[in-house]
Amino acid sequence: MGNAGFQSLLNALPLPGLAIDLDDQIIAANADARTLLGDQIIDRSYIAMLRQPDILHSIEATQADGENRTTRYVHSDVGQETLFSVSCRAVVDAGDTVVILCFEDITHVTQTSQMRRDFVANVSHELRTPLTALMGFIETLRGPAKNDAPAHDRFLGIMQSEAERMNRLVGDLLSLSQVESDERVRPTDNVCVDAVLLSTIHSIKPVADAAGVNIETDFSDTDLTIAGDADQLRQVFTNLIGNAIKYGNSGGRVTVSLKRLKREAFARGPCALIQITDYGDGIDEVHLPRLTERFYRVDDHRSRALGGTGLGLAITKHIVNRHRGRLKINSVKGAGSTFAVVLPISA
Ligand SMILES: Nc1ncnc2c1ncn2[C@@H]1O[C@H](COP(=O)(O)OP(=O)(O)OP(=O)(O)O)[C@@H](O)[C@H]1O
Ligand SMILES: [Mg+2]
Repeated sequence: MGNAGFQSLLNALPLPGLAIDLDDQIIAANADARTLLGDQIIDRSYIAMLRQPDILHSIEATQADGENRTTRYVHSDVGQETLFSVSCRAVVDAGDTVVILCFEDITHVTQTSQMRRDFVANVSHELRTPLTALMGFIETLRGPAKNDAPAHDRFLGIMQSEAERMNRLVGDLLSLSQVESDERVRPTDNVCVDAVLLSTIHSIKPVADAAGVNIETDFSDTDLTIAGDADQLRQVFTNLIGNAIKYGNSGGRVTVSLKRLKREAFARGPCALIQITDYGDGIDEVHLPRLTERFYRVDDHRSRALGGTGLGLAITKHIVNRHRGRLKINSVKGAGSTFAVVLPISA
């Protein structure tokens, strides 16, 4: 087949691929392989190009015995690592063995399974804490506190709040899996954003009053209608206003503003901009990119004490994505935070 034959075969592969002869020279490589390993790899020794023990051993072994092998290769490029599964296959061409390498990017596969493991570990941990408390109190009620009526009342109160926490967590988990599964299904109902905002503010007012927070509205536009899911949008606003009350209460007030944007590039048209601003402690910059991760909390202890499950913003983000919108977070430590939701307005 010759080098040119290998070259045209490799050109037809949808993955980075290269061919190595028994003199350890790279005799052919497709464009993807050259992007990965450098432009000047043809006629060079693979040992100098690949430099990782696993892959070098596999190639050497396949050259020797002609057996197929699969190995790993980690490509590092300015701060980013890509993990490849590399297949080594031997081909006999005019009596000589040529080893063909194919690189398959499996970074996302390993990341996904890692995320799944983390998620299960997180859920178990979150459930175990209230469950351990419940079991402890049941034991105490049946044992040492058996005949202590005032203690019964107190313990049952704590047990109730722990059970409620578990109930909230399970509710949020179901809600998360629901919004994840219909994230690709576009909502079709016509929803008036200002009406949903006003009714959310109305229902959350008692919580704000209890926390000593005044909710102010600033609607520069009204009657903004979008294609949306009213229940889900209410969930978004409830979480964002609830967070502003919970974590920003030291500011004493929260503003909810609504504005029509003429044209947003990402939506190729007009949008509704909803901003929820608090004047509390703010959030350190380092946390901002991770806030929408499941179970991510800035102050674990405080969030738990306030009854938070750490799933609110993860759910919020999925719902905003489903509405083809954007969630933007701005915060200044010590001055407060603004959570902005931009939603495309239906034509
Ligand atoms: N307005 C805010 N000011 C300061 N910190 C905030 C604000 N909003 C969110 N956070 C931080 O982000 C974290 C994640 O918020 P998220 O809404 O996802 O979870 P939660 O409020 O703890 O729980 P849940 O919403 O499920 O009850 C919070 O624990 C808090 O640390
Ligand atoms: Mg929340």
